[in-house]
Amino acid sequence: MRPLIVIGNWKMNGSLGSNQDWIKTVARGMESGMPSGRKYAVCPPFPYLQQCADLVKSHSLTFLSLGAQDASAYKSGAYTGDVAASMLKELGCSYVIVGHSERRQMHQEVDEIVSAKALQVLDSDMTPVICVGETADERNSGRAEEIVCAQVAKQVNVLQDRLADCLIAYEPVWAIGTGKVASAQVAQDMHRAIRLQLAEFDEDLASHVGILYGGSVKPDNAVELFAMLDIDGGLVGGASLNPQDFLAICQA
Ligand code: PGA
Repeated sequence: MRPLIVIGNWKMNGSLGSNQDWIKTVARGMESGMPSGRKYAVCPPFPYLQQCADLVKSHSLTFLSLGAQDASAYKSGAYTGDVAASMLKELGCSYVIVGHSERRQMHQEVDEIVSAKALQVLDSDMTPVICVGETADERNSGRAEEIVCAQVAKQVNVLQDRLADCLIAYEPVWAIGTGKVASAQVAQDMHRAIRLQLAEFDEDLASHVGILYGGSVKPDNAVELFAMLDIDGGLVGGASLNPQDFLAICQA
C-alpha cells in the first residue's frame, strides 16, 4: 500500500514572520491528529529551512517533514550560489524537489542534470521528488504522454533500482500556478502511463513508487484527485502558502 503524501512547495515566498504564523497554524490544525498512513512535508526557500526546522521542533509538529526546492548536482566545491544535498540533510530535510518545470524552463535544467541532482539527494539519504510534465503546446499536439514517458525513461536509465527510493511528481506545466487543474481522469491516465513506463524496467518497483500530482491543487479538487488509483498525493504550490488550505488538502 503506497502512503498518501502531500508536499507544500512555497517557491520563492515567505518571510521570518509569516513562516512563524504558518507553522503555528499548521501545528494547531494537526494537533488533534491526522489521518493515518499519510505523510506531509513543506519545502520553504533555503534561507528559512533552519528557522522552519526549529519551529517544527518547538511545536512538536511530528506530522510535518521538511523538504527543499532544489539541490546541487555536485557534492561540494566551487559552485557559487548552489546548495549541496548534504547541507540540506544537515538542516533536517527529508525530501528535495528536483527538476521542477520552473527550474527546467528558467535555469535550463535538462534531464541529465535532474538525474545528477536526484543521485546527490539519494546519496544524502533523502527522497528526491522528481518532477516531470508536458507544456500546453505538447499536450495540444497530442504528445503529452510521449514527452512525459520520455522524461521518466531518462531517469530510469540513470537511477535504475534507486528509483525505488524516489517520488515522481507529474506536474503538467500548463496547470502550474494557472488555476487550470488537470481533471482527475486526465491526471490518472498520465499517472498510469508513468507507472507502466516504470514497469518496463521493474514491475515491483513500479507498483511501489509514489506518484504525486502537482498543478493548481486546491482544497476543492484534492479529494477527487487523491481518490484516483495511481495518484499518491500532491505537490502543492500556491495553495500551500495558506496554512488553512494546506491543512484542508492534507486532510482531503
Ligand atoms: P501550483 O504549483 O500548485 O501553484 O500550481 C505547483 C508546483 O509548482 O509544484
